[in-house]
Amino acid sequence: MKKIITPFVLVVLLGLIAWFGTAGLGLYTLFGVVLPYGAFATFIVGFTFKILSWAKSPVPFRIPTTAGQAKSLTWIKPNELESPSGAPGVLARMFLEVFFFRSLLRNSRASMVKGPRLVYVSDKSLWLAGLVFHWSFLIIFLRHYRIFAEQVPFFVPLLEAVDGFFEIVWYNEIHAVTLPGLYLTDALILVALTFLFLRRVLDTKVRFISLLQDYFPLYLILGIVITGSLMRYNLKVDVIAAKNLVQSLVHFHPDTSIQVGSIFYVHLFFVSTLAFYFPFSKLMHAGGVFMSPTRNLANNSRAKRHINPWNPTIKIRTYAEYEEDYRDKMKAVGLPLEKE
Ligand code: HEM
Repeated sequence: MKKIITPFVLVVLLGLIAWFGTAGLGLYTLFGVVLPYGAFATFIVGFTFKILSWAKSPVPFRIPTTAGQAKSLTWIKPNELESPSGAPGVLARMFLEVFFFRSLLRNSRASMVKGPRLVYVSDKSLWLAGLVFHWSFLIIFLRHYRIFAEQVPFFVPLLEAVDGFFEIVWYNEIHAVTLPGLYLTDALILVALTFLFLRRVLDTKVRFISLLQDYFPLYLILGIVITGSLMRYNLKVDVIAAKNLVQSLVHFHPDTSIQVGSIFYVHLFFVSTLAFYFPFSKLMHAGGVFMSPTRNLANNSRAKRHINPWNPTIKIRTYAEYEEDYRDKMKAVGLPLEKE
């Protein structure tokens, strides 16, 4: 239970720190400028360092998975997606992995049924929830370019139009009041995160292998989404002021006079914590997927001999040399010789 509760308390504490730090202590520059810069720098340096360290790891051999037939004799049909023989297959496999989490489609669940009998059934729920979560996150992040970029990029209104096709209208006695259009991704990411959390908590096996560091990012991202949604749908902040602050940060001319509502700083502090934590955590799978040898190497071991480059040079002694060395002794005891 501790590993589930502790990270939750930690995230709530982080939120309270940002709230009181700004509303109570007026530390706007700390939460609006210093910490975001620090976190962003840590993210860039940490991410790059991790990727470079992985890139330097030697991978002398191909590591094919057993899922598909490798290219072999002409009359045996190869499976270019599972066992690519060249770059096009590798690119296709990587594309499907990165954008559609293809290997998760093979996910299965083990359970005991009457008998007792252990059965494995295909389980696509993790794939679906993972996909919904990551895609929603990406779309929300891209929509934020309305704030991040000086000129709103062309794709933002496009995404907003598709994502915000719900227009919730409610009436009071006098006016029809239009709430800000609900973004579908805001709802979907909440549902997906809730599923991913419940999956860890309710499934005994998954709960057993889950650690504090599995729950922490879930709570943190949930915190980001909840505070973001509060800003948009309830506690309304001055988005223009928020954009001005972000622009001043982006142009490395931080405007310390700008103050936005405290919920904005809680949102930003959560995002900063995520950025800071990212390179040291399992979230690095975002970069690691590209370095995965079972995904990024063609299975061409039959066509090409891969030699381990750091094999020691072995001095070989041929039989002829051996015979030469022991010729007299062999002859003396009557052993047959190849060369008389
Ligand atoms: C990890 C990245 C982030 C995530 C997942 C995220 C998530 C969200 C979500 C779900 C919303 C609700 C409305 C919407 O979907 O647009 C939101 C709103 C908002 N976010 Fe973020 N956010 C992130 C980063 C940031 C950053 C870096 C800033 C600014 C420095 C920021 C500033 C805002 C503001 C000002 C709003 C309110 C927008 C409005 O009222 O329309 N967010 N965020």
